[in-house]
Amino acid sequence: MTPESSSKKQSVSATLGQLEFPVLDRSARLVLQSGLYSRLSISQDEIVKTIVVGDASAREGGAHDEAHMRTVSLVRYQRRLESLGVCMPKTRIEESLSELGAPTIEMVVERIPNATALVTLPLAAAGDQYQFVACITREMTKVIHSQYGEMPVGYDSGFDNFILYGGCCYLIDIYPPRLGYLVRDDGCIERLPPERLLVNYPEVAPLPPGKIAELQRCYYTPEGTAEHIAVWAIATACARQDLDAHGHWWRLESAQSATEAVYDTLRHEGFARSVDPLHSFLSSVRGTQAVRHRHARVQSRFAPAFFQWESICNLFSPQPAKDHVWAR
Ligand SMILES: Nc1ncnc2c1ncn2[C@@H]1O[C@H](COP(=O)(O)OP(=O)(O)OP(=O)(O)O)[C@@H](O)[C@H]1O
Ligand SMILES: [Mg+2]
Repeated sequence: MTPESSSKKQSVSATLGQLEFPVLDRSARLVLQSGLYSRLSISQDEIVKTIVVGDASAREGGAHDEAHMRTVSLVRYQRRLESLGVCMPKTRIEESLSELGAPTIEMVVERIPNATALVTLPLAAAGDQYQFVACITREMTKVIHSQYGEMPVGYDSGFDNFILYGGCCYLIDIYPPRLGYLVRDDGCIERLPPERLLVNYPEVAPLPPGKIAELQRCYYTPEGTAEHIAVWAIATACARQDLDAHGHWWRLESAQSATEAVYDTLRHEGFARSVDPLHSFLSSVRGTQAVRHRHARVQSRFAPAFFQWESICNLFSPQPAKDHVWAR
């Protein structure tokens, strides 16, 4: 890094992808269905994420026991991430009941007032993209660190699960709880074997075995996590560009910024040994295919994510959000 680019990187870190809007109506609320949540209710200061356990009208004991077990795991996962020093929005986790009396898990989450990195990273200049990716990678090295120990955790490091705000990277998606260990009744800790690691929501149909094994590696192993971050970083940084504009994606400035940011941060945080294998992966056919595949997926998700963010802004602001966003 040259002294000049270093000072540039310093100067952008104060804003770190923040897209800010004036607030008018503090009582406004947007309710939507997203991912697996039966309801996501967004207001100015908080988001209530509701998960109905079992059938929407389940009243029998089994569903209540299941809801209780999942709540315990979720709280344990949140505390473990906290103990690793991971930056997350303040979150209250509660067992509750739906209108129909079915057991639910409710997460009342502090709203971080910015769009996810899936929106902010593609909109940023290459120098800022370096900062954003470095910040995300730094936060994820805390998760990687746990994976070498007795109480490992996993995280889905898709870039829609991060929000950059106030110079910090927040991990915003802690459901389902990805604990790589079990706490036995006698209090003993037991590492789970790879095949028992939870990757998908318990309430959806199981994925094909090959896909499960791939995700177990991406979420829970140091090598897989580093690859997942790098692939997402390159694909998202280049989301508004043609990957083949200069013959190969690694010639794009955004791709280079994103890759360098991952490598530099891994080295800086004590994971220098991960850089060479990661570089080999990204240079391989498998790595290139992974970037291409992810790029197409990110491109298709960018516009809906952007418009969801815009409708949230319109809810709390009298101005059309677009002008503010593009003015950055
Ligand atoms: N704490 C938060 N602050 C601000 N926005 C948030 C927060 N948590 C979630 N969101 C917004 O809600 C969306 C969905 O949240 P979350 O990632 O928890 O659910 P999900 O099931 O993964 O849904 P999706 O598949 O849409 O990502 C996020 O992409 C983000 O736009
Ligand atoms: Mg998510």
